[in-house]
Amino acid sequence: MELRTLIAKAEETHQLEKDEIVALLQSDEYNKEIFAAADRVRHRYVGDEVHLRGLIEFSNICKQNCLYCGLRKDNKNLDRYRLEPEVVIDFARKAREYGYRTVVLQSGEDACYTAAQMADIIRKIKQLDIAVTLSVGEKTKEEYKVYKEAGADRYLLRIETTDKALYEAMDPGMSFENRMRCLADLKELGFEVGSGCLVGLPGQTLQSLADDILFFKTIDADMIGVGPFIPNPDTPLKDAGGGAFELSLKVMAMIRLLLPDINIPATTAMESLHPEGRVIALRSGANVVMPNVTEGDYRRMYALYPGKICINDTPAHCRTCITGKINGIGRRVSQDYGFRQKGS
Ligand code: 5AD
Ligand code: SF4
Ligand code: FES
Repeated sequence: MELRTLIAKAEETHQLEKDEIVALLQSDEYNKEIFAAADRVRHRYVGDEVHLRGLIEFSNICKQNCLYCGLRKDNKNLDRYRLEPEVVIDFARKAREYGYRTVVLQSGEDACYTAAQMADIIRKIKQLDIAVTLSVGEKTKEEYKVYKEAGADRYLLRIETTDKALYEAMDPGMSFENRMRCLADLKELGFEVGSGCLVGLPGQTLQSLADDILFFKTIDADMIGVGPFIPNPDTPLKDAGGGAFELSLKVMAMIRLLLPDINIPATTAMESLHPEGRVIALRSGANVVMPNVTEGDYRRMYALYPGKICINDTPAHCRTCITGKINGIGRRVSQDYGFRQKGS
């Protein structure tokens, strides 16, 4: 089928075969058309409102060793921190005051917080009338259940790549099966489940990215975040090629075409590679932004990759900045919790 016909098919039916996705990823000739089609599908299914999620990076301590990530345990060039529960709750309270209706509690895989401690934090934040998303990695089903019962609404766990061999090479000591188990458990427990992938990992193919996109459809993900891999000088992948901005944008747009009603963030990593990255993403299928509400030096210390935006900015500044960008493209900041409206 001709590429233009494939784009029309995706826009109308939200179905493509793997080889059709690969064909669209392979050629850059119709990128503009793909981004425009994803923008129309975004408008039709999730509207013009943009949901903001306030991101609290509450610990950069991690027991894992992902080759791409600056928080990996073997990185000794990083000052580590862990916020006290009261501080996390205080950041959430301030986020509520800035008008956020969701906070995302994100950390490395820090084993120090027990499920009971996390539950306590979740309960206190839920009293602020705010949706809670967790992004704290692989846990047991029992722990996920404790989080859910404490009131957590959503959980983010990127599969990173659906190529099992690549996953296990990139994330030494971690098992692909366990990650899949986590995603299944989270879904079963009733969380809104977010996943996603990195684009431009060494050894990653377009076929494998097409598998990622189809996988997100198979698991009926509620949110998908896609970001370019950005080589970090303090990791084993420091010399790897990165900077796949356009390709990550295209993978994101294809996800909008095939999963029309989900929430899709314009990711921080995209803006770290391109000064207008998030606005471009919002015009190519995205409908969510996750501004940082962590205060002080912690932002800089949460160094997943170099060039991370907003490391010297305050939560108040970011809130104003992002509203300006959103209004500047004729969109509005949503005032609701931003749950997925299935099939709307
Ligand atoms: N470049 C881009 N994204 C990265 N992440 C970790 N390291 C990098 C990097 N070098 C992403 C992973 C993880 C998320 C929190 O940050 O996809 O899931
Ligand atoms: Fe830890 Fe997550 Fe970074 Fe892997 S990607 S090293 S699990 S913080
Ligand atoms: Fe942080 Fe613009 S969102 S400075």
